Parts: sequence; C-alpha cells; structure tokens
Amino acid sequence: PVLRREDYRAPEWTVPETDLDFALDPSATRVRARLSVRRSGAHDAPLRLDGAGQVPLAVSVDGVAINDWRLEGETLVIPLSGDAHVVETEVEIAPDRNTQLMGLYASGGNLCTQCEAEGFRRITYFPDRPDVLSTYRVRMTADAARFPVLLANGDPVARGENGDGTHWAEWHDPFPKPSYLFALVAGKLAVNRSSFTTRSGREVELGIYVRAADLPRTEHAMHALKLSMAWDERVYGREYDLDVFNIVAVDDFNFGAMENKGLNIFNSRYILADPDTATDYDYDAIAAVVAHEYFHNWSGNRVTCRDWFQLSLKEGFTVYRDQGFSADQGSAAVKRIEDVRGLRAAQFPEDAGPLAHPIRPESYIEISNFYTATIYNKGAEVIRMMATILGPEAFRAGSDLYFDRFDGTAATCEDFVACMEEASGADLTQFRRWYSQAGTPRVSASLEHHAGSGRATLNLGQKVPDTPGQTGKAPQVLPLKVRLFGSETGRPLSEEQLVLLSEPSMSVTFETVTERPVVSLNRGFSAPVVIESDRTAADLAFLARTDDDPFARYEAMQQLMLDTLIAATVEGRADHDAVVAAVADTLDGATSGELDAAFVAEAVLLPSEAFVGDQLALVDPDAVFRAREGLRRDLGRRLEARWRQAYDTGAGEPYSYTPEAKGARRLRNVALGYLAASGAADAAQVAWRQFERADNMTDRQGALTTLVNGVSDEREAALDVFYNRYADNGLVLDKWFQTQALSSRDDTAALVAALAQHPDFTLANPNRARALVGAFGVNQRAFHTEGGAGYRWLADQLLALDALNPQTAAKLLPPLGRWRRFAPPRAALMRAELERIAGTPGISKDLFEQVSKSLEG
Ligand code: ARG
Ligand code: ZN
Repeated sequence: PVLRREDYRAPEWTVPETDLDFALDPSATRVRARLSVRRSGAHDAPLRLDGAGQVPLAVSVDGVAINDWRLEGETLVIPLSGDAHVVETEVEIAPDRNTQLMGLYASGGNLCTQCEAEGFRRITYFPDRPDVLSTYRVRMTADAARFPVLLANGDPVARGENGDGTHWAEWHDPFPKPSYLFALVAGKLAVNRSSFTTRSGREVELGIYVRAADLPRTEHAMHALKLSMAWDERVYGREYDLDVFNIVAVDDFNFGAMENKGLNIFNSRYILADPDTATDYDYDAIAAVVAHEYFHNWSGNRVTCRDWFQLSLKEGFTVYRDQGFSADQGSAAVKRIEDVRGLRAAQFPEDAGPLAHPIRPESYIEISNFYTATIYNKGAEVIRMMATILGPEAFRAGSDLYFDRFDGTAATCEDFVACMEEASGADLTQFRRWYSQAGTPRVSASLEHHAGSGRATLNLGQKVPDTPGQTGKAPQVLPLKVRLFGSETGRPLSEEQLVLLSEPSMSVTFETVTERPVVSLNRGFSAPVVIESDRTAADLAFLARTDDDPFARYEAMQQLMLDTLIAATVEGRADHDAVVAAVADTLDGATSGELDAAFVAEAVLLPSEAFVGDQLALVDPDAVFRAREGLRRDLGRRLEARWRQAYDTGAGEPYSYTPEAKGARRLRNVALGYLAASGAADAAQVAWRQFERADNMTDRQGALTTLVNGVSDEREAALDVFYNRYADNGLVLDKWFQTQALSSRDDTAALVAALAQHPDFTLANPNRARALVGAFGVNQRAFHTEGGAGYRWLADQLLALDALNPQTAAKLLPPLGRWRRFAPPRAALMRAELERIAGTPGISKDLFEQVSKSLEG
C-alpha cells in the first residue's frame, strides 16, 4: 500500500498517558500497556492500535476484560462508547528472535530498543504515529544477575529487589513524546559518569553505558557530548531539560544512532574510540553523531514531526546544526569540503537515479527507505540556503520563533519555513520549491568582459532536471555567492556578492573591471547545484592558486581534475600538465605553511571514480578507472620529490589528537597513496614501515589501505598482523573487511566473494554486512567487473539479508538500481538481477519498494 502526504488526517484518539510494564526475558518478554485514551473531535470511530508480529493476550477497558475487539490485519480495533477510557493490553514478544533490530531486541546478551520510525508497534499495541504525544511511565522487571542495569526515558523514579532473583526499576518521562522516541535498555553494562551544568544552573548527570572492557574508549564521546551541550546553548539558545542524559552503545544497530528522549542509543562505532582502534575520521564522526543526537532533543523531540513526510523537518535541520558544531571544532573550510564530498557521493546520485525524491516526499511504501541522503543532507543544504539568504540574525530569530511556537507539538516543514518568513519579513514562496521538486539543479555560467567600458557581465541559467514522476519543473531560488578576480594581478575585482538566481536565466553586471576577470562561483557551495561554466583549465588553475575562499580553491581544483579525467575517459587524452602544476602549487603551499595540511590533503585528492562516472552519459567503469589511475601515476611520478617531502613532514611525531596533528596524518597518508601510485620501488616498504611503527589507527589503517591496493609480500603480512591483533574487536575487524572490499586490485570481486565465507563474516550484524557488501557496492570498478559476477553476488547477499533484516538489505540495493547508467551488457545483467530479486517470493516491502522503483525509474 502506498501512503500519500495529501492523505494526512489528524488522529481520532489521543493518548495523554501511557504506563508500560515489562517482564523482561530474552525469549519471552511480557508487555502490559495501560493507555489513557481520549476521543479527539466529534466522530464515532473505534480506537485503532498498530501492532506488528504479536497477538493480544488480553484486552480490557476501564478495568473490565472485553472480547469485542478485533484484528484488521495487524491493527487492533477496539470499540469504545465514551470519550475517555483506560485501555489495557498484554502481549508477549521474543527479543532474541528479533533479527530485524526494530522494536525490542537482543544485542550481545543485552536488551535494547529501536522504535523510529515504526518499531514501537512491535513492542505493544499503540497509535504508532509521530503526532500522538504521550507521557510515559515505564516499569521493568528482570533477572538481577543477567540484567543489572535497567534504563528507560526520562528520570529514574524508584528501584528495588523482588527477593526471587529479579529486580525492578521505574522511570518517568515528564515530556510528552511520540512512540518513536520510546527506549529501554537492560543488561550488564558499565558506565562512564560525568555531569554538565546548564547555563540556568541545572545539574545534569551524564552517563555513557558500554560493556566493561570498552569503558576506556568512552572519553572522547563524553567530551563531545559536553561540547555539544554548551554549543547548543551558545549558538541556538537551547538548554537541556531533564536531570539525566544517558547514552548506550550497542554492536547490532541498523544505522548510526537514535535520539530517544533522555536515553540515546548508539551504534557502538559512533561511541567507542581510542588511538589504537579508531581513526581520526572515526573520532570526527563520533563527535558529529553525538552532537546530532543531542541536538535532536530540541529539533526532533521538543518539536517533533507531524507525520513521516516531514522527516526532513527534524533531520535536515539537525544535520545542519551538527555540521555547524563540527565546523566550529576545527577548520570550517575542511568540514565544508568533507560535507560537499559526501553530498556528491551519496545525494547527487540519488537525485539522478530511479529513487529520486524531494526532501519532503509525496508518497512512500516503507518509510524506512526514506532515511536518505536527500532527506538528511540535501535537507541540511536547504536549511543552509535559508540561513544564507536571511543572514545569521534573522535565521536565529526564525529558529527561536519555531522552537517557541511549536514546543511540545508535532510540526511540519511548512511551519518551519513560515517561522523563517515571519521572523525575517522575507518572502520564501518560491523558495519552497526546494521542498517539492527533486533533482539537482544545473546552473550554466559564462562571463563576458568589455575591456573598453570596464564592464563584465555574468550570464547565468538554471534547469531542474526531470526525475521519475516529475517533469517540466519550475525554476528554484539558487543563492550563489560570486566574486571576480583579475587574471593578471590576482586581485579581487569585486566584493563577494550573493546572487539570487530565481529565473530560468539572468545577468549580473560588474563595473570597473579593469583587467580580464575570472569568476569564482558558488563560493562555499552556497547552493547544492551542478555548475557548468566556460572557465578554461587556465582559469581553474588560477583560482586554485589565488581564490581567497578556501572552499572555492578546492572547487576549482576539483573541476580542473574532473575536466581532465573526463577528457581522458572519453577521448583517451592524457593531458595532465595543468593538474600536475596545480597540485605542485598546492603542495608547496603546505611546505611554506601558507595552507594547512588538512586542506592540502583534501585538495590534492582526485574526484572518486563514481563521481567521474556520474558526469558521463554512460559510465564505462574500466575507462574511468584507467583514466584516474593514469593521472594518479603521473602525479605520483612527476611530483615524487614533493610527495616524499610531504610524507616526511611530521613523521615520527608521537600521536596527539589536535587539528595540526590530524592534518599532518591526513597529508602523510595521501602522500603515501601517491607514492605507491607512482610505482616507486620502495613504496611497499615505506607502507610496511609505517604499518609496523604506527602508534595510532589512522596511520596503521592508511598503510594497510596502500598495501591492500597493491601486490606485495607485505600485503598478506599486514592483513594477517592486523587481523590477529584485533581479532576480538568487532569494529576494527569491520575495517579489515572494508579495506579489502574497497581495494582497487583487479581481483577484488573474487576476493570479496571469498571473504563472505570467512568465519568472522555475518549478515546478522549490520556493521559487518555494510563493511563487506556495502563497501563492495560502492567500489565502482570491482562491482562492475565484466561478466556480472559482482551483480549476482550482491543480489544473493541482499536476498539472504532481506530474510533477516529488511531495512538494512534495502539500503544496500541502490548500486544495482543504477543500471540505466551503464552500456548494454552491464545494464542487462544488472536488470536481470533486479528482476530476480523482484520475482523472489516473500521479499520484504522495504526491498520490494526499492527494487520495483529501480526497475521502473
Ligand atoms: N533519527 C535517527 C537519527 O538520525 C535515525 C533513525 C533512522 N531510522 C530508520 N528507520 N532508518 O539520528
Ligand atoms: Zn537524526
């Protein structure tokens, strides 16, 4: 069944109060629910409670057992005569057989929950929709030895022993919340405790719960949590509102983490870190996800979503907020580069493929399929554009108004935009198209200069491409930051200016342009669009050298590399001079100290194979790979001395987690990659030495990656050493699998298929499945190995995974769904696998939706 946004109707019954009583047991948990229900509006409809996978063992109304209830599908329908009743139900569920990891499930011997979006109905009967807000009181009883820790949302109320080996605890959450924010945890857990005093003086007790052996790996997350709490007070005026804030890390988790009120539950990979097991990238991701979940306390919990079509209301805004937090912790420019790289890797292809959808979708079959880069990351870009257009003060005023007006309610994207309008006086009528139109807008730009009059004209045009089900789109409002630079002097010829391109085309005139100008366009990536400009390789190289906006410098360099790679792929033309010169300049900027190492490391990286492929009418993965490897080899050879110099800078420094040390490690690892690409005879030894001497995971993993991509005796040795050293650390073993699945070697497809037989491989753990199956799907060349073996293998894995965990399976399908982007033999082979999946009886609706849309789109 397809759900449509326009069909929204307010709930017929509300549930002001909910009492839950859990008798916890991994194989048979009893759940008794006591709901106070109120008729909302004038109607005589029965109460309808969502359920999934269980049956009612008992139902009573106002204390009297009834039997005139019925099931419609899995919905429990209870006729009620009055306007206010107390409805009680009892069910039994089996957490240890819950392989979907939605609802109440077992992980590592502990019990935990995941309810967003529709997992609560797998725990008990309830109106499982985000606009039914209820106050929860939760009582848990469990074996005291197996489950010494009992946690739920809100504040702890009481606890005690029963004298029969069981104990109990009661929690109360005073803030009305939707069922998707419900959480409980029971298990053997150690806690890292700390505290935070809010600016109005509330003492908040903080706790991070993990298995005892992991306790030393929780400091970084705790630090990030406190920074987040202070940041939200300072930047958004948002304060925490309960006396406790708990986080629990679990190993089996379908995505990153979950913002349950007062009890965030995390995938352990976004909590656990120490220098020996986590990379700098992991450290940054942990801080970002801790911040993200914490920020949801306001953008998501205090103000939640009316319905799931509004998902980007909380996710887009919260990603925007966590991006701002991360930007403030280090280099804002490098953070922006990373976010744009991520957007191009994940969201642009979504917008260009069969699963394209607007940030506020019009329909869906399974909401889990809409936790996408579009909802999250394009959603964040849309909020960012509003902040750019309105300016920081008006944006903050709009945000204050939104939180103030909608506190304690379930709101819509429209409510958010209306607050921004009201607080700023701006008219965002046309801007709203960002919410309803899918597809990445394409902007054409050309610059004319009349030397005589000193006038320059920038001609801009826009086109929003057709996407499945959406054609002939209207122009959108594109905020483009623009500045001109003089090609002779390198001096700016204008101030930075914000151009709002809202028509299909427009011209912007600049006066007193005294020399030939070069335009720096979409600075800071002010609009999430594709730019097609008439700038030459020389212009781009010039900007890469002189632009005063570091992001724009990076962009110019990327465009230059991209143009070079496209020419090499399509025409086999290997004209690398401009790129080599620009990379040399940038590396010299690092040596002279003019540019920081983290920026240089990003700037000298070539666009990914996938991103190059995305620019082509039809992707030839082998040609893209050859072109890119050719350029890498050339850069490696022609700049070998510089790579060695970059590699030696900061070598031998003991580990520290500072922005400077991180930047140096990043540049070293990039340099090592280029050294290996050059074919230098000693590259494997250099990598091996780094691998052996590393005092941190960033260096160890960097060396391993280089070795795994090559052919050497050191390769096997490093894989063995790494495996044996970390055999008992699941998160590091994920890296071991993933590094091999991402390898650029010719035989990767076969190696990956063999790894699926490794005793440590399992589809039951989502991190492990993603490390091998997910990584293989994004390894463009390996996945598209001639003959289609990669397609068949992926389809087999997806079918096997779907039987256990539909959500995670459906997330790994998109690489197969891109069949239209490839030439006939590949397209047909990919399509055949999609059809095989679609034709398999009993597949989940999650996988069905993705497969059927991929076949149609
Ligand atoms: N709200 C969570 C977060 O962004 C993610 C929940 C994902 N749920 C899902 N069904 N995929 O932090
Ligand atoms: Zn979120």
